[in-house]
Amino acid sequence: MDKQAAEQRIKNLREEINRHNHLYYVLDRPEITDAEYDLLFLELARLEKEFPDLVTPDSPTQRIGAAPLEKFAQVTHRIPMLSLENAFTDGDMRDFDERVKRFLGIAAAQEIEYVCEPKMDGVAVELVYEGGKLAVGSTRGDGFVGEDVTQNLKTVRAIPLRLTTDNPPRLLEVRGEVYLPLAPFQRLNSEREEAGEPPFANPRNAAAGSLRQLDSRITARRPLSIFCYAPGEVDGYGFTSQSDFLDTIPRWGLPTNPHIRKVSGIGGVLAYYREMTEARETLPYEIDGVVVKVDSFALQRELGEKSRSPRWAIAYKFPPRQAITIIEDIVPSVGRTGVITPTAHLRPVEVSGVMVARATLHNWEEMERKDIRIGDTVVVERAGDVIPAVVKVVTEKRTGGEKPLPIPGKCPECGSEVVKIPGEVAVRCMGLSCPAQIRETIIHFASRDAMDIEGLGEKYIEQLLRLGLVKNVADLYYLERSDFMRFERMGDKLAENLLSAIERSKHKELSRFIYALGIRHVGEHTAKLLASAFGSIENLEKATEEELLSIREIGPQVAQSIRTFFHNRQNIEVIERMLRAGVTPSVEEKKVGGRFTGKTFVFTGALTRFTRDEAKRLVENEGGHAAGSVSKKTDFVVAGAEAGSKLDKARELGVRVITEEEFLEMLES
Ligand code: IVH
Repeated sequence: MDKQAAEQRIKNLREEINRHNHLYYVLDRPEITDAEYDLLFLELARLEKEFPDLVTPDSPTQRIGAAPLEKFAQVTHRIPMLSLENAFTDGDMRDFDERVKRFLGIAAAQEIEYVCEPKMDGVAVELVYEGGKLAVGSTRGDGFVGEDVTQNLKTVRAIPLRLTTDNPPRLLEVRGEVYLPLAPFQRLNSEREEAGEPPFANPRNAAAGSLRQLDSRITARRPLSIFCYAPGEVDGYGFTSQSDFLDTIPRWGLPTNPHIRKVSGIGGVLAYYREMTEARETLPYEIDGVVVKVDSFALQRELGEKSRSPRWAIAYKFPPRQAITIIEDIVPSVGRTGVITPTAHLRPVEVSGVMVARATLHNWEEMERKDIRIGDTVVVERAGDVIPAVVKVVTEKRTGGEKPLPIPGKCPECGSEVVKIPGEVAVRCMGLSCPAQIRETIIHFASRDAMDIEGLGEKYIEQLLRLGLVKNVADLYYLERSDFMRFERMGDKLAENLLSAIERSKHKELSRFIYALGIRHVGEHTAKLLASAFGSIENLEKATEEELLSIREIGPQVAQSIRTFFHNRQNIEVIERMLRAGVTPSVEEKKVGGRFTGKTFVFTGALTRFTRDEAKRLVENEGGHAAGSVSKKTDFVVAGAEAGSKLDKARELGVRVITEEEFLEMLES
């Protein structure tokens, strides 16, 4: 290709990739598969390698991180980044509303227009766009001076490197919150524990830690995202209100939270707060309250600010998801990779609506650092659906009878030697045939998110092991009816069901199969990436480290672990025995051009024709998207009996509401 042609192709590829980035990371509505995306990306990277002088700082290839820095430069914010006053009760909020009116000389009976937003629990940043191009990105710092984390922010794919408008303002400063969603947070923490690094206490710390990496290649592998919520200095465009700002910037490619709503008066504010208190439980990221802002910028200016916070905004915080209880016991358990984890058995306690009886103590180093002992009174915290953690000990409650649990000298399950590798925090059982490890491996293999062998739970797996009928996962596919009949209390029908569940699992998706193998550091998400990149287990087996590393989000540690797994003769034999037994993992292609491509569905109420998971799969199989809550972007709400607030919301927004039958008709039409 000559240079001129390359230049044109590069331009087109960048536009395409940017568009798909936005569809994927901001709108959550991909139009192409990951594999197709990777092809575009690879082509661009090759062309840029061939013509290095055509590389520009806003090319999507520049999102993979740059050479490590010595330290961060400082950035002075043109306008200080203020913080917010906190409210904790409806009364505090009524006071705020009254204060606003009094200050503005508005009659008490009149309603103020407010914009209500989820308060993201992440890290505040400022993005500076000059002539539409991302010039600088910084942390809030002390509000006046922050750190220059431009390199790191460029790796956040939801942040446009260039605004998607033909005539951008000369200067646009936007403030927003960078956050790490709950699923990758959990993944990151289990990876860290496996690798012997201390886990992050919560998603906010994980986001902050990721953003403050001097090596942006590390940041690039953490799926950070952002919601923008306030303008800084702007030159060349006039926003009239917060709602005007929030309606405008998504058109320029800047993401805003879909749950933001404009309401009238304090009544609207309080109703929004209640709704978000509920929605919080199902959001894929952490929020710690709602932020309420006077909508009109003219009124905001009139109200002005106090020393460190504006008079026109307030944060109405949620009650903390913490509670105090007692550790009744600490029990070590062995995972499938041999890591021994201490788990606290708690006197059951309710933490914002959920009963908590167990909490992870992560590892002995963490436990010693926090000085946690059996009998201690502790603070436990729950984030979203993440396993609850012990935050700290209430030392004032110590009586002297509390007992620490020392590192076990031997594996509590098989009595093998236990080692703590220097530099790692994990304590591992080194027993190759540790029954706990084998049991956990098989339980994992059969579990719902893996091969989904219905009915084959812990109890039956333990019996299979005890009777010596299985020694590894491949043996499951050679079981016969008579084997099951040796179980205590087993009937014909039950044996039949188990056998047919095992049979059905032979044709599960490749990503499930990869996940089920239990390769260290390969969770569900990574398994999906691998399935779509390699298409078959044979290809994955042969993949070189370099090929593995070319996949987005896969770093050296994961690549190494995959290589090690497939290098092991025993593992290969187990896989081959499964394939010989008829296991044929299928490749799931997300349908592009399916019936529901680009359409978003929300399911609500009691469904009778299918479960929620099935509904989601039906939609996704047709290229659509199933969301958890109703917004302007929802195309259809499928309502079963007793549908509640989501149905109301759909009606309010004019979203089309259909029945389950109508949904099935659409599927079949
Ligand atoms: S507005 C002057 N909106 O909360 C107004 N802040 O306690 C400045 N935050 O430092 C902030 N979500 O990190 C605003 N929707 C939202 C927010 C939000 C989270 C954070 C932000 C800020 C802190 C203030």
